[in-house]
Amino acid sequence: MPRHLFVTTALPYANGKFHIGHIMEYIQADIWVRFQRMQGHAVDFVCADDTHGAPIMIAAEKAGKTPQQFVADIAAGRKPYLDGFHISFDNWHSTDAPENHALARQIYCDLRDIPASEGGSLIARKTIEQFFDPAKNMFLPDRFIKGECPKCHAKDQYGDNCEVCGAVYAPTDLIDPVSVLSGVRPELKSSEHYFFKLSDPRCVEFLQNWTQDGRLQPEVANKVKEWFSVRTNPDGSTSEGLGDWDISRDAPYFGIEIPDAPGKYFYVWLDAPIGYLASLKNLLDKRSQDYAAYMAQPDLEQYHFIGKDIVTFHTLFWPALLHFSGRKVPNKVFVHGFLTVNNGEKMSKSRGTGLDPLKYLSLGMNPEWLRYYLAAKLSARNEDIDFNADDFMARVNSDLIGKFVNIASRAAGFLTKRFEGKLTHNFGASGAALLREVRETEPQLRKLYEEREFAKAMREIMLLADKVNAYVDQNKPWELAKEDANNEALHQVCSTLINCFTVLARYLAPVLPQLAQAVGTLTGSNLQEWGQSHIDVAAIQAYTHLMQRVTPEQLDALFEPPAPTEVKLIPGGEAIAPTISIDDFVKIDLRIAKIVNCEAVEGSVKLLRLTLDVGEGRMRNVFSGIASMYKPEDLVGQLTVLVANLAPRKMKFGVSEGMVLAASHADEKAEPGIYILNPWPGAQPGMRIH
Ligand code: 2FM
Ligand code: ZN
Repeated sequence: MPRHLFVTTALPYANGKFHIGHIMEYIQADIWVRFQRMQGHAVDFVCADDTHGAPIMIAAEKAGKTPQQFVADIAAGRKPYLDGFHISFDNWHSTDAPENHALARQIYCDLRDIPASEGGSLIARKTIEQFFDPAKNMFLPDRFIKGECPKCHAKDQYGDNCEVCGAVYAPTDLIDPVSVLSGVRPELKSSEHYFFKLSDPRCVEFLQNWTQDGRLQPEVANKVKEWFSVRTNPDGSTSEGLGDWDISRDAPYFGIEIPDAPGKYFYVWLDAPIGYLASLKNLLDKRSQDYAAYMAQPDLEQYHFIGKDIVTFHTLFWPALLHFSGRKVPNKVFVHGFLTVNNGEKMSKSRGTGLDPLKYLSLGMNPEWLRYYLAAKLSARNEDIDFNADDFMARVNSDLIGKFVNIASRAAGFLTKRFEGKLTHNFGASGAALLREVRETEPQLRKLYEEREFAKAMREIMLLADKVNAYVDQNKPWELAKEDANNEALHQVCSTLINCFTVLARYLAPVLPQLAQAVGTLTGSNLQEWGQSHIDVAAIQAYTHLMQRVTPEQLDALFEPPAPTEVKLIPGGEAIAPTISIDDFVKIDLRIAKIVNCEAVEGSVKLLRLTLDVGEGRMRNVFSGIASMYKPEDLVGQLTVLVANLAPRKMKFGVSEGMVLAASHADEKAEPGIYILNPWPGAQPGMRIH
């Protein structure tokens, strides 16, 4: 029976290019989707840009664009990656599209307006205290507060969840929070927020069942279970059970306005997964299919591929929003681990890693090498996998090409030269037995693909390839070819090999769609449908090379850091100044200075007046534009660095006798923050800096 599947991958934030972690997820899902299509099932496979939220709003502002323009520009760069890695999405949409605005508002209203007879509204309003950046004059988005994870104590973690232990918390839970925008310690300020009542007994009961009824991977279900029993509150205490979920953010915010709540927007994580439905609706509209009717199909199956860092959103909030707004819930959520590169750090969403997907393609590296390599490593569990350059080369060259692709090249030439490309259907006893074994592995492979046990599937296929190669070695077609021009044994052996090869290519087709296409053409076979048609090749076309080997030079180039001339911009966007000689440098007399006194300057918001000891037996008076960052009393007694031979400068408030060194971005308005230099302990006032 054909099934109806609706499949998604996580929606990437529209504030950066794809990195290899995105591509891995898309490849994983794409293999599964192609496999399902090859079984004759109907699959709608969609994704979209996740466009909302303060980080994107701020990035757009920095780039001098409207958020709409900013996300449109990001969206315009998606296609080369998706086409390049043979990802077969049926639709790519945006969470800022009208479909998503309408759906998010509708889902919210459905939750808000649950009648009392059914337990009443699941939306509540509460006034909460939230971090506010006094320097930027705005409430701080979670991602713009950093600090220590309250759970595992990892440093430098974002305000919404920990990239190290996966904990989800409120930014107020962070230990030693700082504003990423200004570097100042944020202040608490009150505001009314809208909440989804996840703690409501209806939600708890529903989710306890939904998360533990076998639809999640066992290790995921176990992890999720913890969230029902222990929760960290904003004040640091812990309580039992699920907490209500804050779904609103105050203007200024790039998002969807909450109905009947002026100045309030949905938190990006509310409307992001709704984007799955919006993208589907957009696809159906294009096909003139009815969305409501589609969603009402009783046999519709809904699957989401996601990374292990966003499990909470997809296994608590998302199914609860859907269920209590009267919608279909996901059948399964498939959670994968992180991808590391060359045993490096975990793939970070924001920082990426050394394997640049577009660079990979631009080097002429075959996308199907990567698809095969990832397939050979992926399992149904959410464990991390590592991309290792040597391992990559071995698996592609030795397994994929050495064991599989070479089968065809070993047989095709003889068939073309000796038998006009025609195959015999008489395979001889051992050939027939081998071909039967290869064919009969199909149910086992179908099961492995269905369960997303791709590594096991690849192993089985390579075991079959080993057997085929053993058959080649036993039958030695090159010896047979010496005997006479029309050797029947040679014909049988080569025909067996081409048939085995074609069946294996069909098994690999979800992973290697382009190669399968080429093998289909070579052998005149349909490799796109499993099970339907028996492969029995009648003749082959002239053989052309199906796949090149990966070279060490390609891998070296892939991981070679970009040439220095390409690094035009350092963070903050300021280019490195032209080269100077050491003679130029020594003209600048830099000295350690002790700040013996510091005070505010009346009439100036920017300046502090510093009294500095540079070991000269007298004090210097220096003005410095650091008042936004430092309180005078915090600086007194500190050491810093002074340009001691700068010509004195007459200012409105007095003469400045030198300049204190401080670091800032090129554009101080866009990226505020100025940090004075502070030597390591042991430096003495008056020491020269060389
Ligand atoms: O973690 C992320 O990259 C999010 N943009 C994923 C969103 S998935 C879905 F909810 F939209
Ligand atoms: Zn943590």
